[in-house]
Amino acid sequence: MKFLTTRIVRGVKYAGSGLVFLLVMAAVSVCLGAQLSIVNPTHTDRSKNPYGCAGCHKGHGKTGTAMLDSSKNDICFTCHGFSIAAGKMKARTDMESVFRKRYRHPVLETSQYHRPDEQLPEKSPSVPRHAACQDCHMVHMSTPEDPLAGVQGYVRGAVRDLEPGKEYMLCYKCHSDSANLPTTSTNKALEFDTGNASYHPVEGRGRNHLVPSLIGPLNSASTITCTDCHGNDDKYGPKGPHGSNYEFLLNAEYLQTESAESPKAYELCYSCHDRQSILGDVSFQKHKEHIVYNRIPCAACHTPHGSRRNPNLIEFDAAFVGIAPLPSYAPSSDGRPVCFLRCHIGGRDVVHDNSFYQSKRWP
Ligand code: HEC
Ligand code: HEC
Ligand code: HEC
Ligand code: HEC
Ligand code: HEC
Ligand code: HEC
Ligand code: HEC
Repeated sequence: MKFLTTRIVRGVKYAGSGLVFLLVMAAVSVCLGAQLSIVNPTHTDRSKNPYGCAGCHKGHGKTGTAMLDSSKNDICFTCHGFSIAAGKMKARTDMESVFRKRYRHPVLETSQYHRPDEQLPEKSPSVPRHAACQDCHMVHMSTPEDPLAGVQGYVRGAVRDLEPGKEYMLCYKCHSDSANLPTTSTNKALEFDTGNASYHPVEGRGRNHLVPSLIGPLNSASTITCTDCHGNDDKYGPKGPHGSNYEFLLNAEYLQTESAESPKAYELCYSCHDRQSILGDVSFQKHKEHIVYNRIPCAACHTPHGSRRNPNLIEFDAAFVGIAPLPSYAPSSDGRPVCFLRCHIGGRDVVHDNSFYQSKRWP
């Protein structure tokens, strides 16, 4: 039934006239009604939204919308807003304030480009990029347990219904094969590909079986989600990848320049990887020397997503590691890898070449 209703609701084309729309509404109401007894979506549940369909739809509606009583995200903010108009209801979650944070999905700026009949990933490079609430939420179907219920995703060239726990399929609609991807942005599906030499375990379990820093219950068989890292910096505020005061919409601090080490500086990583373990050199025997004594950020050596060629999420950041000699990484099983590179840190260049390693003694 749930499946059928999704098809019907999605199959209904953008109603052209008020009459057709009302008929469609009546038909869909019956279907949604039948579905209610099974999943009880929040917005069509009168005990949660006493306005019913009229909470969002009205008569002919605003042009360019599916008969909505206000333009795109404004409808959501009539209840999920910072201040609520007299006579309207206030949802628990104030999403408007979250979308006004410094780093955010550009919903306020770009949702006007969303079309109900659009096909994502975008195939034309000239179409403006956008993110609207409706891209990530099917309000006729969402529930408190599953805010993404009924949403479609994209993986390995195919548009598909989101599978349970596979939130990344939603993100790939706009962050993988989109022809209009910004030049500063990369294809995330390539980075998290389980065929890569290393990757954070989003699409499937990771390649490394020895990750001693993991904080329980996480272990090397665990999988994580994009929103474990990207989301609200306010732990008590609405969950989700909406807005944050941290750059790249990260939910915790992650400094990427030369910095004094502290629990806060790399809070993002330390939320899953034990700081004592990392600085105790349990794996890489020179973590502490680099991170604490030389003030080198994790990002100088690690990529947070995945690396096609290197194990251990090693991708050197060009801001620190120069091209001559060509940086290379040879891992070892005892935490004593060999890297040939030139590192620029603390205003000087340090060269790791053969003579450097001959003069060096491991602990
Ligand atoms: C919380 C707001 C909200 C409520 C309540 C709501 N809708 Fe909608 N509805 C939307 C939005 C937003 C869209 C446009 C979706 C898009 O742009 O992709 C939509 C689109 C539609 C469409 C066009 C087809 C589609 O799915 O794109 C129909 C038909 C429809 N709604 C019927 C209903 C009926 C019937 C009810 C009451 C049972 C209802 N809606 C309640 C927000 C709502
Ligand atoms: C008529 C009031 C109303 C409107 C309009 C409305 N919502 Fe909601 N929404 C609620 C209430 C009430 C909840 C329950 C949780 C809460 O209070 O925050 C909720 C919860 C949600 C949730 C959490 C999952 C769930 O289903 O419980 C999502 C996601 C959501 N709304 C998205 C939207 C989007 C997107 C729009 C605009 C298209 C929208 N809402 C418009 C009242 C509304
Ligand atoms: C409908 C399209 C769409 C979907 C779906 C989508 N995004 Fe985005 N996202 C955007 C747009 C547009 C931007 C603004 C920058 C750009 O154009 O890439 C953005 C920006 C971001 C940024 C900030 C990038 C920066 O440079 O600061 C992050 C992080 C992000 N998205 C993560 C996600 C995650 C995680 C998901 C899945 C839960 C997701 N996005 C789903 C469209 C989308
Ligand atoms: C382990 C934490 C972590 C996970 C999991 C994660 N990210 Fe990120 N992401 C980061 C960090 C840190 C940055 C900023 C540094 C960088 O870009 O290398 C970032 C940057 C980004 C950016 C901005 C840079 C760009 O290329 O546009 C986008 C978009 C993004 N991530 C999307 C995603 C998506 C989509 C997923 C899931 C498929 C995801 N991230 C999973 C930590 C994470
Ligand atoms: C890029 C995708 C994306 C966009 C755009 C987006 N959301 Fe969400 N939203 C999510 C995800 C993913 C979650 C689930 C987070 C979780 O459960 O950890 C979520 C959760 C929510 C929740 C539940 C929060 C809670 O703490 O229970 C509400 C309410 C909500 N979204 C409303 C909105 C509204 C309103 C808009 C537009 C103004 C919007 N979202 C735009 C992805 C998105
Ligand atoms: C939400 C939890 C989570 C966060 C946040 C997180 N990680 Fe991880 N990380 C994991 C898990 C789970 C694994 C185990 C994957 C495996 O077994 O290959 C892992 C593995 C790793 C590995 C080893 C990968 C390999 O293939 O050898 C490195 C390096 C790493 N993380 C670095 C980081 C850095 C740097 C950050 C901060 C940007 C970070 N992690 C943030 C969960 C997380
Ligand atoms: C100078 C380069 C460098 C820096 C800076 C660095 N790492 Fe690493 N890291 C490595 C190397 C090399 C390995 C692989 C060690 C091995 O297994 O031989 C590694 C392994 C790891 C692992 C997987 C093994 C484990 O201990 O669980 C994690 C997690 C990790 N690093 C997290 C971090 C975090 C978090 C930071 C910043 C606070 C950081 N690293 C800074 C080079 C670096």
